[in-house]
Amino acid sequence: MNYKFAKRNDYVKASEIREILKVTENPEIISFAGGLPASELFPIEELKKVCFEVLDKDGEASLQYSTTEGYLPLRKSICKRMATLGINSTEDNILITTGSQQALDLSGKVFIDEGDTIICESPTYLAAINAFKAYMPKFKEVSMDSDGMIMEDLESVLRGNPNAKFIYTIPDFQNPTGRTMSLDRRKKLIELANKYDVVIIEDNPYGEVRFSGEKIPPVKHFDTEGRVIYISTFSKIFAPGLRIGWICADTSFLEHYVPFKQNVDLHTNIFSQIMTYKYMEMYDIEEHIDKIKEVYKHRRELMIQCIKNYFPKNIEYTLPDGGLFIWVELPSNVDSTEVFTKSIANNVAFVPGNPFFPNGGFKNTFRLNYSNMPDDRIIEGIKRLGKVLYEFC
Ligand SMILES: Cc1ncc(COP(=O)(O)O)c(C=O)c1O
Repeated sequence: MNYKFAKRNDYVKASEIREILKVTENPEIISFAGGLPASELFPIEELKKVCFEVLDKDGEASLQYSTTEGYLPLRKSICKRMATLGINSTEDNILITTGSQQALDLSGKVFIDEGDTIICESPTYLAAINAFKAYMPKFKEVSMDSDGMIMEDLESVLRGNPNAKFIYTIPDFQNPTGRTMSLDRRKKLIELANKYDVVIIEDNPYGEVRFSGEKIPPVKHFDTEGRVIYISTFSKIFAPGLRIGWICADTSFLEHYVPFKQNVDLHTNIFSQIMTYKYMEMYDIEEHIDKIKEVYKHRRELMIQCIKNYFPKNIEYTLPDGGLFIWVELPSNVDSTEVFTKSIANNVAFVPGNPFFPNGGFKNTFRLNYSNMPDDRIIEGIKRLGKVLYEFC
C-alpha cells in the first residue's frame, strides 16, 4: 500500500508525550498530568433538573439542526457576563464554538497559510501548538517572566517579522506556566499590535478562576481598534464535556470564521448550548464558580506547601493566583523526560515541559496540575516525586 496522505500529517503526529501519558489512565497513578477540572464539583443534581426542563420546554428545538453562530439567548447571556469582565460586545460579536479548542483550529483556518509566521509565548498551550501546526506555520516564541510575555522581546520579533499573522497569548494563569500578564504589559501589547498592525488572539479559559491577587481586565478590554479576537469557554467554570466555548470578535473577523465552522460541524451541539443557557437561568453560576475557586485555592496552597517540604531546594516553581497549573524548572542539565520515566515507575505522572515549546528545547521543565487530585493524593504524589527529583538534582 502506498496511500498518499497530505503533507500536514507530518506536522501533526501523535506526540511521544501523549503516548506516554496513556499510562495515566491506570487508577493507581497519581496524576498531576492532565488539565482536568475537579469532576466532583460538576453540578450534576442541578443539571438533571435543567435537562428535564430543556426537554420539557424546548425538546424539539434542542434536538433539531441549528444556526452556525449559536443559540441567541446563550450569546446574549455571554455578552452580559463578559461586560462584568470589562468587554463590551453584542450577540453579533459572538460565535459559539465546540469548546475553545475549535476556536483555535478555526483561527488556523482563517489566518495561516503554509510558511506564515505566528507569534506565541514561550512556552505555550500544547494543543494550540498542535492545532496551528496543521496549517504549517513557523512559530516565533517570545520569552516570558513572572509578568508574562516580555514586551521588548515581542517588539523585536514583530520588527523582524512584519508579516506575522497573529500574536497568540494566554494572559491569565497561562497554560502551562500559571503566569499572568501584568496590567502594564497588556496595555503595551495593544500598543505594539496597533503599531505593527497585527491581530491578537487572546485565549482566556482560566481568567474567571482567580483565587488570589487583584483582578486585571482582559487584553480585549484595552483593544482600541477591534484587533483582539477573544476566545473563552465554559470548560473550566462549568463542565468541559458539554463542549461550549466562544469567540468574541469584531464582525469583520466572524464573517471569516463562520463559513469555516459551517464546513466543520454546521453548528455547536444545540442541546449543550440550551443546557448551558438554562443552567444560568435556573441557578447562579457565579456561586458555582466561587465553589470551584475555593477548592482550587486550597489544592494550590497544599501543593505549594508540599513542594516546599519535599522538593530539592535548587528547583524553581511558579506561584499562580488562579487557574490549574504550576510550572517547575529544574537545573538546566536535568531532563524532565528522564524524571518522568522514574516518576511513572513510582506511580506519579506530570507533563514534561519540552512539548510546550513549539521549537523545542527547555527539557529541564515540567507542568503540574493541582485541580484534579484530592488532598491525600497531592501530599503522597508530591512526596514521591520529591524523592525521585533528589536522584536528579
Ligand atoms: C489555554 C487553553 N486554551 C484552550 C483550551 C481548550 O479548552 P476547551 O476546548 O475545553 O474549551 C484549554 C484546555 O485546557 C486551554 O488550556
